[in-house]
Amino acid sequence: MESPFDVLRIDPDADDDEVDRAYRRRVLEAHPDHGGSPREFQRVRAAYERIEAGYEPDDAGSERGNGAGAGDPPDPGPGARDPAGRSTGRAGRGPGEASDDSDEPDESRVEYLNYEVLDDRGWGLGDPDLFEKASDADLDPADYGMFLVEPGESLLEAAENRGFAWPYACRGGACANCAVAVVEGEMETPGNHILSEEMVAHGIRLSCISAPQSAELKVVYNVKHLPDLDELRLPADRFERAQATD
Ligand code: FES
Repeated sequence: MESPFDVLRIDPDADDDEVDRAYRRRVLEAHPDHGGSPREFQRVRAAYERIEAGYEPDDAGSERGNGAGAGDPPDPGPGARDPAGRSTGRAGRGPGEASDDSDEPDESRVEYLNYEVLDDRGWGLGDPDLFEKASDADLDPADYGMFLVEPGESLLEAAENRGFAWPYACRGGACANCAVAVVEGEMETPGNHILSEEMVAHGIRLSCISAPQSAELKVVYNVKHLPDLDELRLPADRFERAQATD
């Protein structure tokens, strides 16, 4: 059985940082938009999940954790995406959250604001009047506005389906290019392996694998250049086609 460390092209004794770095590199290489294929993309994701689940090189086939066999395809999970970022499951439910969908909104109204506007105007993410200021500022619709997110759409998908070009790169939860800051409302990032607890506590979420869990949501998108997120960002190239303010 193929070792997940081989798939990620690292030594079996690699530490957590090395695993994370290798995953970010390999998920990019494997992405269909970057010369890979859906099969290879899923293979890399599966390898990472196996390591995260406690795979031990000398004990192949008996991983700790979720009980999945070593050769089983990965459980896509509730927020899983195919390599193009399309939903393969219900997005937005994080580990430990209730499985009952009855509390989830049929659709969510998202009020969005581009982080570059904050930068330009000297506004802060913690400003309690941030969205009121934005509403009064006669901003371009690309920078400020509202749209509805339908069930099954990630936030990023919803933005794209409504004609917006928000930043992204891997579409697989392996970078911070698609990061948004949730200012009001609920949205979890299922299967988060990238964001620190502190970032999550400050409302940072990955829009490519997250969906609103409240009927109303206020988000600042394009926060990828925040100091802690910058180092998780993937290089801008053709893989990252979207620059909202270009
Ligand atoms: S685009 Fe990389 S995590 Fe969303």
